[in-house]
Amino acid sequence: MQNKRILLIVGGGIAAYKSLELVRRLKERGASVRAILTKGGAEFVTPLSFSVLTEEKAFADLFDLKDEAEIGHIRLSREADLIVVAPATADLLAKMAQGLADDLATAVLLATDKRVLAAPAMNVRMWQHPATRRNIATLRTDGIAFVGPDEGEMACGEYGLGRMAEPAAILDAIAGLLDTKTTGPLAGPLSGRRVLITSGPTHEPIDPVRYLANRSSGKQGHALARAASALGAEVTLVSGPVALPDPPGVRVVRVETAHEMLAATLAALPADIAICAAAVADWRAADEAPQKLKKEREGGEAKLLLAQNPDILATLAKPALKRPRLVIGFAAETENLIENASAKRRAKGADWIVANDVWPGTGAMGGDHTQIHLITGAGVEDWPPMSKDEMATRLLARAADALSSLRSAAE
Ligand code: CTP
Repeated sequence: MQNKRILLIVGGGIAAYKSLELVRRLKERGASVRAILTKGGAEFVTPLSFSVLTEEKAFADLFDLKDEAEIGHIRLSREADLIVVAPATADLLAKMAQGLADDLATAVLLATDKRVLAAPAMNVRMWQHPATRRNIATLRTDGIAFVGPDEGEMACGEYGLGRMAEPAAILDAIAGLLDTKTTGPLAGPLSGRRVLITSGPTHEPIDPVRYLANRSSGKQGHALARAASALGAEVTLVSGPVALPDPPGVRVVRVETAHEMLAATLAALPADIAICAAAVADWRAADEAPQKLKKEREGGEAKLLLAQNPDILATLAKPALKRPRLVIGFAAETENLIENASAKRRAKGADWIVANDVWPGTGAMGGDHTQIHLITGAGVEDWPPMSKDEMATRLLARAADALSSLRSAAE
């Protein structure tokens, strides 16, 4: 990030304070930062805080004629390598989608030909509103890249999707966008890439009303699909039964059983990256009863014969014509985490394994946070605890990097 010039647009949301931290981290990495605050942004954080941290004047109003004379909105855009909108409020995103330009921030955004990364931050209902969904879809088509939002507790006391991504995740997305190897002036680091993700549990029928299942919520797999799409990928999400909304802009294929998941996954190839985050049931009932099973007598035992399910990760990772270049699996363990996960990487032929401890009480299963160890051919990386959204963004930014170095090695 050395010598890169970031133009940071700060919208009017409580998350604006996190943008101060973002400036600090960008400066630490050698980038220079200029900030523009919307009128709302300046209500939450002062332009002075930004000018102290950026060591530059912080800009606020298009109609400040002195600023326009000194440095106009066109120059602000011209002198940047990347524009980052953080927080990107629902209002600011709506203006961007409409092409409105009634203040300095929106005038710069309309006048720019540089890449734009937006970090949305808003109340969960605003995020889910059809108007915001439409605006996000429009902006994606326009080539705007997104990072977040994350799921979690909000300033208004509600819970859900809408928290601004953490500065570290925004930083990773910035690094990906600044990577000169990515294609096109408005592309994300995964533009032109196909990403295939499995998510959620599978349900294996015993009879027409009963099934075998597990406690997977699908939160991690869905977060990965959101993050991959936000970084510009064309994403197929093959999901078992979950109670989560479809990530916007993602092709979702819903399945129930491991066999259906395998078929849908193979049908979605070719892909550049495959991530198996689903908790696929290892076994299914050997014979699915055509009618509801009856108990023979009170207190009597019943035996259920199980047959093994196909391993989707191992199938995808087999050397074959359509093998994705990067195959990533998960290892959920309750003991000997690194040892078992490394063995799983070798046994299944995956390139990377994301190992996490799912001992009850860690909160990983069904929770919003995770602590993972990334096992690659080069060794083990211990990642700090973070939200599943942040983990997803960082993992995909890493995958984008890995793919571009694979490509350069092949060139
Ligand atoms: N996986 C898969 N298909 C299966 C079983 C697992 O694709 N039938 C994938 C999961 O999506 C995950 C990885 O394999 O990426 C590890 O899954 P896990 O259940 O932890 O491993 P298992 O192979 O089931 O091993 P064990 O239960 O013995 O630990």
